[in-house]
Amino acid sequence: MGTLFKSFIITILILNSTTIINTEETMEWTDSAHSIPKELFLYIRERLPEGTILELGSGWASGQLSKFYTLYSIEHDHRWLNRYNTNYIYAPIKNRWYNVDILKRELPEKYDLILIDGPPGDIGRGGFYTNLWLFDTNTIIIFDDVNRKAEYDLMVRVANKLNRGFTVSAKDRFGKMFGIIEPR
Ligand SMILES: C[S@@+](CC[C@H](N)C(=O)[O-])C[C@H]1O[C@@H](n2cnc3c(N)ncnc32)[C@H](O)[C@@H]1O
Repeated sequence: MGTLFKSFIITILILNSTTIINTEETMEWTDSAHSIPKELFLYIRERLPEGTILELGSGWASGQLSKFYTLYSIEHDHRWLNRYNTNYIYAPIKNRWYNVDILKRELPEKYDLILIDGPPGDIGRGGFYTNLWLFDTNTIIIFDDVNRKAEYDLMVRVANKLNRGFTVSAKDRFGKMFGIIEPR
């Protein structure tokens, strides 16, 4: 292949990847406090360009994530099922967290990233810690809303139990923060 032709192809590839990144950065995003912030979405896009995500708590951003990933969404509320192109795992609340028997049966075996954004804060997310054994934890684990004490404490307890560190994002314009535990 001639050098000129090779550099033409490389230029096209660079232009294409720039276009993709620009498209995502200029994507319309919701102002809903219920959805993950755009900063978190962009972080995920950069950290994990492709693969499978398991999210706890579904909503508008599931529709966005499902454009780029194979997505599994654990959801307790039937009103938030079947809205987006994700593999829903309907697990109503039992003993103050998702019904564990349903999760045992329906969780996928493999995923690259776990996104903890449910159940809602008034129900509580502590069940993720008590039921950690259900999950493949040697993955990227992201906790949304760690500006709230309960979610921050959950992240710290999980990191300690897994003997791993964590990092926390800067506050976004709404004061929201997310935290990350990296795999080994
Ligand atoms: C924090 S939301 C999860 C949002 C989702 N991860 C997202 O980023 O779009 C937690 C729960 O609230 C409910 N929910 C989702 N979107 C909502 C909305 N716009 N208003 C009220 N409740 C919502 C669902 O039951 C969901 O499991």
